[in-house]
Amino acid sequence: MDGIELQAYGHLMDQFWSPLTNELDGPYGGSLDNRLRFSFDVLKEIRKRVGPGFIVGVRYTGDEMLEGGLAKEDGLEISKRLKDSDLVDFLNVVRGHIDTDAGLTDVIPIQGMANSPHLDFAGEIRAATNFPTFHAAKIPDVATARHAIASGKLDMVGMTRAHMTDPHIVRKIIEKREDDIRPCVGANYCLDRINQGGAAYSIHNAATGRESTMPHEISGADARKKIVIIGAGPAGMEAARVAAERGHEVVVFEAANDPGGQVRLTAQSHRRAEMISIIDGAWRSARSTLQHVGRSRDRPGRKARCRHHRDGRSAPHRGAVRGQRVRRFLLGHHLWRCEAPAPMFSSSMTPAITPACRLPKSSPMPGRRSRS
Ligand SMILES: Cc1cc2nc3c(=O)[nH]c(=O)nc-3n(C[C@H](O)[C@H](O)[C@H](O)COP(=O)(O)O)c2cc1C
Ligand code: SF4
Repeated sequence: MDGIELQAYGHLMDQFWSPLTNELDGPYGGSLDNRLRFSFDVLKEIRKRVGPGFIVGVRYTGDEMLEGGLAKEDGLEISKRLKDSDLVDFLNVVRGHIDTDAGLTDVIPIQGMANSPHLDFAGEIRAATNFPTFHAAKIPDVATARHAIASGKLDMVGMTRAHMTDPHIVRKIIEKREDDIRPCVGANYCLDRINQGGAAYSIHNAATGRESTMPHEISGADARKKIVIIGAGPAGMEAARVAAERGHEVVVFEAANDPGGQVRLTAQSHRRAEMISIIDGAWRSARSTLQHVGRSRDRPGRKARCRHHRDGRSAPHRGAVRGQRVRRFLLGHHLWRCEAPAPMFSSSMTPAITPACRLPKSSPMPGRRSRS
């Protein structure tokens, strides 16, 4: 391990910091000095044990946004004291409180809420301290992250859910393939799952959290097959993409005029508009294309026959009857051919660092302090 980060917000440390939760008298309650005493006691002990070269940071709220709680002025003061303590190497600031669902949602904004709502606030902390500052809160794409760094608001951009949806973001930036980044749609299925004691799965990436059985990178199949998919909802589209990327010949049947299923309907609501990226948008087009080839028709005069008994038996095999029912069911369905570009990943690729992923000169990363 190279370092650690202490989570102060919503946990033990900032229960001492906040006047809303600290009702103590004496050395650990009352003045800001006293309320911070516990955290600095802990930090001093950590630093004593890990030595000067080990990275230690604190993740904390710089403004509880609660009446009677820590205000922005307190947050700025605490940030300066953390820096001046010479005990920490970086600040990781959030804004808000997480003691209620509504509060948690402001700290971790969901779909339909504004992007990067606390970025300017984090920038104020960095400007006031000139100290390595991290921040995360719905910074969903590389353009916003680049702005955060280029404008000097942050030294490191936290993109938790974005990396859960696409763990290859950094690699794709380096390879100049930003269009091919699978976007987080802010559905918070991941958080709902862990809040119920499950694994953090992603609504927009079935492989996330299932890496041991389902790889993020699709490898080519040993033999090319024809794959028929019935239903171009999100699951059908994803199955089609994966099959196409594996090199199979893929056709998709769908009753509706457009692919996308219920997601297309959901995305019509303003609050759920981000869901459209699951079925549409740059990433999906970069990975696979659905080419409409017409509508399926029944062939007149064709009798249902079992493919195992081609001797003209009049009584069709059960499988043939089922096949006939499927054909009738698909009558009039739209038919798409799903194709993928040549596999874009190669594990042997050695990415070259490009200026696009370096910190711009206008935003120098403040150096770590020497404690020797
Ligand atoms: C599945 C999941 C688990 C998380 N667990 C923690 C945690 O243990 N501690 C923490 O400080 N934040 C945790 N977070 C919050 C993230 O660190 C981050 O602040 C939040 O997701 C907002 O950033 P984002 O919009 O880039 O996802 C978690 C987020 C997710 C999605
Ligand atoms: S479930 Fe996936 S897409 Fe939705 S917020 Fe979580 S990481 Fe993003």
